[in-house]
Amino acid sequence: MTDFKKSVVYQIYPKSFYDTNGDGWGDLKGITAKLDYIKTLGADYIWITPFFVSPQKDNGYDVEDYYRIDPRYGSMEDFEELCAEAKKRDIGLMLDMVFNHTSSRHEWFQKALAGDPKYKNYYIFKKGPQKGVPPTNWESKFGGSAWEYVEAFDEYYLHLFDVTQPDLNWDNEEVRKEIQKIVRFWMEKGVRGFRFDVVNLISKGSFEDDFEGDGRRFYTDGPNIHQYLQELNRTTFGTDAKIITVGEMSSTSLENCYRYAGETEKELSMVFSFHHLKVDFMGNEKWVMVPFDFKKLKHIIFDWQTQMAKHKAWNAVFWCNHDQPRVVSRFGNVEKYWKESAKMLAATIHCLRGTPYIYQGEELGMTNADFTDMSQYRDVESLNHYQILQDKGLSADDAKRIVQIHSRDNGRTPMQWNDEKNGGFTKGKPWIGCNANFHTINACQELQDKDSIFAFYKKLVALRKEYDIIAYGDFEPKAENHPQVFAYKRYYEGQTLFVINNFYGKEICWDSQENLEDYTCLLGNYESQQIKGQEAALKPYETMILYKK
Ligand code: GLC
Ligand code: CA
Repeated sequence: MTDFKKSVVYQIYPKSFYDTNGDGWGDLKGITAKLDYIKTLGADYIWITPFFVSPQKDNGYDVEDYYRIDPRYGSMEDFEELCAEAKKRDIGLMLDMVFNHTSSRHEWFQKALAGDPKYKNYYIFKKGPQKGVPPTNWESKFGGSAWEYVEAFDEYYLHLFDVTQPDLNWDNEEVRKEIQKIVRFWMEKGVRGFRFDVVNLISKGSFEDDFEGDGRRFYTDGPNIHQYLQELNRTTFGTDAKIITVGEMSSTSLENCYRYAGETEKELSMVFSFHHLKVDFMGNEKWVMVPFDFKKLKHIIFDWQTQMAKHKAWNAVFWCNHDQPRVVSRFGNVEKYWKESAKMLAATIHCLRGTPYIYQGEELGMTNADFTDMSQYRDVESLNHYQILQDKGLSADDAKRIVQIHSRDNGRTPMQWNDEKNGGFTKGKPWIGCNANFHTINACQELQDKDSIFAFYKKLVALRKEYDIIAYGDFEPKAENHPQVFAYKRYYEGQTLFVINNFYGKEICWDSQENLEDYTCLLGNYESQQIKGQEAALKPYETMILYKK
C-alpha cells in the first residue's frame, strides 16, 4: 500500500508547464520531458490538472469528453508514454476529475438541450417562480446568477461556475454510474491517484433563496455527499489500495472533513480546504484589497491541524495551486527577502501534519504575474470580476489593482525554466505572458545553486523521507497569540520536532520557554542559528527546524 502520509505531490498545470511543439501551449510530452526535474526534487506523485477534450472556457475544468485527450495537449499515446516514463521513475500520476459539472459542449448536455428527457435528467433544470425570475437567487462563483434560462423549455439550468459549466445531477443514479465508468477507465490506464474537483458541491440540498449569502449553504457538503463519496470509493478507486485520492472542498467545515478524509470512513485519502487562504479576503469576498491577517492564518491552520488529528483525518497541506496567487507574493516579501521568505513559507507548510503539495514554480519562488494591462489576463473569473467591480462603482484602475492581487492568473504564468526567450517555456508565443523576472528566477539557475529555493524544497522533501516524525508526529501549536512568530511542535516515539518561523522582516528575540540548546537544527534558511537557552534570536523571515531525540 502506498503511504500517502510520507509522500509529496507536485502539481502541474500543463498548459503553462512546458511546450514541446512551439504552439504556445504546454503539453503532455512537455511533462514527460521534465520528469527528471521532478524526480530531482523528490516528489512521489504528480497531479496534472485536466487535459481532456474541452472548449477551455475554464482551462479544462469544462470537460467535453472524459475519455479523450485534448489534441492541444497531445494524444492517448503521449499519455501512455507519460504513464510509462513516470512509472520507471516511480512517480505516480494523479488525474484531476471534474464531476460537479461538464462543459455545455458535452454530448450529454447537447442531448439535454435537444430535449432528450434521459439527458435532461443528467443536469439540473428547474422552472422559475415567475416569468424572468430564476429558481433561486444563487450566485455563480464566477459572478452573476447561477441559473441560465433555456427558452425552449421555459426552464433554467444550474451552473455554479461559468454558464458553459452546467452542474450534473448526482441524485440520478445513471449519472453516478457514468462517473464510475470514467474513473475505472483511467484506473485501467495505470493512474495512481485522483483529485476530485469541488467534490463537496455534488449533492445539492434544498433549492431556496439565500438571503444571507450567495447560496453556498444550500449546496455545500450537501445531504447525500458522504453516501455518494462512499459509493464512488466502493465501486472504483477503493478497490485498489495503491490509489490515493484528494478532494477539493469548497467552503467546507471541519466536521465534514473528519468524514471525507477519516481513516475509517472509506471516502477519500485527504482533503484540500481553503479557509487559511481567505485571510486576505473580507469574509467570503475575495475581490477586495486588505492586508493578510497573520493571527487568523495561524489560528485557522492550528485549528485544522489539531482537530483533524483528533478525529484521525488527513489533510493535504499547501499554499499554492492554479487558483491562488503565488505565496511568496502573498505572505512573503518579494522586494527585500524573496529567498528567505519563500524558504520560511516552505518550511512552515512542509512540517505540518499532512501531505504537502508543491505547485509548479513554487519550488523556484515564482512570484505573481507582472501584468499591467487587463488585456494580459486570460482567466474568466478575473475578467468577470473586473467588470463586476466597476458595475459596483469602482474606478477601472482600482478594479485592476484588485485583480492584480487576487487573479488566478498570478499562478498561471509559464513555468520559468531558464533565462532564454519566454523563460524556456515555449519557442512560440505563449498563451499567457511570462513574468519578466525569469531572467533571475528560473530552474536552470537554481539547480546549480546549493542555496537556492529549489535546493531548500528538495531538502524538505528528503527530510520527510528520513524523519518519520514529519509524517506521523502529533501536532502541538506554540505561541498561539504571538503577532509575528509561527511555531509548532511535533511528537513521535520519544522524538520532538520544533519548527520556529518569523513571518516578518523585523528581527525578534523569542522566548520559547524551554531550553532550545537541547535540539539540533535539521534545516534553516540562514547559515547559522542564534539560540541561547530558551531564546531564539530570529532574523528576518527566519525559519529553523529543530529536532531532538
Ligand atoms: C476548482 C478548480 C478551478 C475551477 C473550478 C471549477 O476550483 O480548481 O480551477 O475553475 O473548480 O471547475
Ligand atoms: Ca504545445
